[in-house]
Amino acid sequence: MITQTLSIGRRLTLLLGAIAALLAFLSWGMVSSFSGQAAARTQDNVLAASVATIAETLRSEQGTVRLELPYSAFAMLGAISEDRVFYRVSVAGETLTGYDDLRGGRIPEAPGEVLFDTLEYRGETVRMASISRVVLAGREGASVTVSVAQTRNGIAAVTAGLSRTAAVLSVAFFVLAAALSAIAARASLRPLNEIAQSVSRRGPSDLRPIRRPAPSELAPLMTALNRLMDRLGQSIRRSEDFITEAAHRVRTPLATVRAQAEIALHTVTGEEEKRSLRRVIRAVDESSRSAGQLLDHATVAFRAEDLDRSPLDLSDLTRAVVESLSPTAEMKDISFAVTTAPAAIRGDAILLQTALRNILDNAIKYSPPETTVSIQVTRAKAEVQVEICDQGTGLGAGPVAHLTERFKRGDNVEGVVGSGLGLTIAEEVMRAHNGSLTLRNMTKGGTGTCVLLVLPSA
Ligand SMILES: Nc1ncnc2c1ncn2[C@@H]1O[C@H](COP(=O)(O)OP(=O)(O)OP(=O)(O)O)[C@@H](O)[C@H]1O
Ligand SMILES: [Mg+2]
Repeated sequence: MITQTLSIGRRLTLLLGAIAALLAFLSWGMVSSFSGQAAARTQDNVLAASVATIAETLRSEQGTVRLELPYSAFAMLGAISEDRVFYRVSVAGETLTGYDDLRGGRIPEAPGEVLFDTLEYRGETVRMASISRVVLAGREGASVTVSVAQTRNGIAAVTAGLSRTAAVLSVAFFVLAAALSAIAARASLRPLNEIAQSVSRRGPSDLRPIRRPAPSELAPLMTALNRLMDRLGQSIRRSEDFITEAAHRVRTPLATVRAQAEIALHTVTGEEEKRSLRRVIRAVDESSRSAGQLLDHATVAFRAEDLDRSPLDLSDLTRAVVESLSPTAEMKDISFAVTTAPAAIRGDAILLQTALRNILDNAIKYSPPETTVSIQVTRAKAEVQVEICDQGTGLGAGPVAHLTERFKRGDNVEGVVGSGLGLTIAEEVMRAHNGSLTLRNMTKGGTGTCVLLVLPSA
């Protein structure tokens, strides 16, 4: 079991989403700040124009400074907002006209220079522009300062509005970026998923290297995987070769031992010796059977890895196996009742015959003499079935599924030579052909066992 950490896709999406959120927040902050600054600068420009206009209308009349407030100086301030406007014109610090208490701003020193201040006036924050001008009054020049102040409600409203719009746009941008991140993450992980799927679609014994185009980042993983499968395949082949070799090597001397024991059995006269020789022969039979079954099992594992799928007729195969087992059956006076129908399939003839031989061998082995084994090949839609029923003791009352496990034998094997591999072999053959093997006890017409083999038809 693999402990799963956060998926790469989700990790990428979260990371890209977080980046998008940060960028959206920054862009909102920047747009808000720029729009605030732009609005403030507009107000400053209008205030500057306003004080300059007023300063230009200053003139001296009979030694005193005169002023006719131009309407336009205030009209231009009204154009940008509904804010309240205050002004003060002072000559050498003395208020000439306007709000006497509008003080506190810096006094520009150089003529023509405009200074801006933000200050509290009458309970409100105001922005004030001041300009100084020297007006010739009599012989001396009088320094006149013109200040115009405006409240900042309009600016604040404009800034807040722009900031809201920027916030909405930023959220929309974030949502779009997050959705695109998810799509991008999924798209960039697609090759990985495709490779994973192609590996998991394989059969359990398919160890061929993966040969699909993959992005360069996945190349090391694929190479490692292919190398691993190659090593695994080699080790499987080695152990199969070993089993085959071992089985051959065991069977040949066993045959010699058996032959010698048979000869000895005929020559000795003592009952005790005869009994022990029979035990020897029995043990040799068991070993020889085991070696043969192990060999068949290895062959099945080997051939199933790269299954031959030739067009075959299951009825032909069944008849051939029945034929080859007839002599064995005749020794017990067991007869075969075969019904066949055309049953086209695709598969490996050697493996299918091995499976059928093992099942028929069981039917003969576990049936009393003078009984009948019925073999029925039928075809239904997409399936082909072989049902083999005997009139033996049956499989007993308990569960039967475990009988197909390796080396598992039933309770009814007293005196019957066997290794417990026959059904394992048959089931593995069925599985390699995408078919199935089902065991059941006969339910009507006496005792017996039925084995049902189902294969997909061609
Ligand atoms: N036709 C049958 N009737 C009764 N019991 C059966 C039948 N077929 C199989 N069995 C039971 O299932 C067990 C497993 O069968 P399997 O063919 O795998 O092994 P085996 O016959 O004991 O040994 P071998 O590997 O030599 O065939 C048997 O030992 C037997 O108890
Ligand atoms: Mg058997």
